[in-house]
Amino acid sequence: MATQNLGGRYTFPGTELTVHRMGYGAMQLAGPHVFGPPKDRAECIRVLHRAIEAGVDHIDTSDFYGPHVTNQIIKEALHPYPKHLLIVSKIGATRGPKGEWNQDHSRETLISGVHDNLRNLGLDAIDIVNVRGTGLDKANDKFDIRPSMETAAQLQQQGLIKHIGVSNVNAKQIADAQAIAPVVCVQNMYNLANRADDALIDDLNKQGIPYVPFFPLGGFSPLQSGKLDEVARSLDATPMQVALAWLLHRSPNILLIPGTSSTGHLEENLKAAELELSDEALQKLDSIQDEAKK
Ligand SMILES: NC(=O)c1ccc[n+]([C@@H]2O[C@H](COP(=O)([O-])OP(=O)(O)OC[C@H]3O[C@@H](n4cnc5c(N)ncnc54)[C@H](OP(=O)(O)O)[C@@H]3O)[C@@H](O)[C@H]2O)c1
Repeated sequence: MATQNLGGRYTFPGTELTVHRMGYGAMQLAGPHVFGPPKDRAECIRVLHRAIEAGVDHIDTSDFYGPHVTNQIIKEALHPYPKHLLIVSKIGATRGPKGEWNQDHSRETLISGVHDNLRNLGLDAIDIVNVRGTGLDKANDKFDIRPSMETAAQLQQQGLIKHIGVSNVNAKQIADAQAIAPVVCVQNMYNLANRADDALIDDLNKQGIPYVPFFPLGGFSPLQSGKLDEVARSLDATPMQVALAWLLHRSPNILLIPGTSSTGHLEENLKAAELELSDEALQKLDSIQDEAKK
């Protein structure tokens, strides 16, 4: 697969980290429900190899995917890492014995989370660590991000984290975090049908901060819409490609991390960066949010 344009490039603020806007989210490399080993480990390794071969230089992960499994697969496939590969991880949760997701922002868990990432990825320092809040489709307004940010800033001073991002957060939590240390990216749920962060994205764009939507394809509930299908048919593309192309078009500070455990889907997703959307298509895609609200 020849190197593709991958949506152009973006530089994280205050850093020398520049990546293609089309990246890859590694959560799908773990087993069902993001727990345990994947069904086809060899295919997962192939997915990572193909991504790098195609020019992907931004991988989003966490040590609580699996747990540990996803990072171990990334290390097996790609270590020693290509010089320009950016690996972004996140801290603020643990997994229970049956795969339960436990929100945990104790100082000990945040610190051990960073060390788990370092060990399983085979790194001395992580490029970016996102301090994760406690909501999924919507940030939990009651979460106080400041103590977690203080801990992350200390880990940064110790050289274990190069830069800090935040995820699952609202505008106030971002501002609270920025008062403690520079925030180089924000990761929240956002896609064609879930657009609660529209104003936030525009505000971050003005600040030069990238917004990295998770569940760009709908996550556990893949996007489904007659209008999306219509636009896809008119472009001879797939609905998932159109959903990604729309995000790239939505704002220049959007960086993509679609997840897949399949080389076929990976190749399909990367080609989305080449799609051009007409005004008519954009209008139709914009109206999907109203459908989703009904
Ligand atoms: N901060 C957070 O709380 C948070 C939460 C969730 C995720 N994330 C991050 O965001 C990344 C992306 O999210 P995600 O992977 O959960 O959701 P997603 O990218 O919206 O969708 C992934 C799902 O879509 C399927 N898929 C991918 N490409 C496809 C294609 N071309 N055609 C049909 N189906 C396709 C995948 O299945 P196949 O494997 O079969 O392709 C998988 O089931 C994750 O990898 C993770 O790094 C962060």
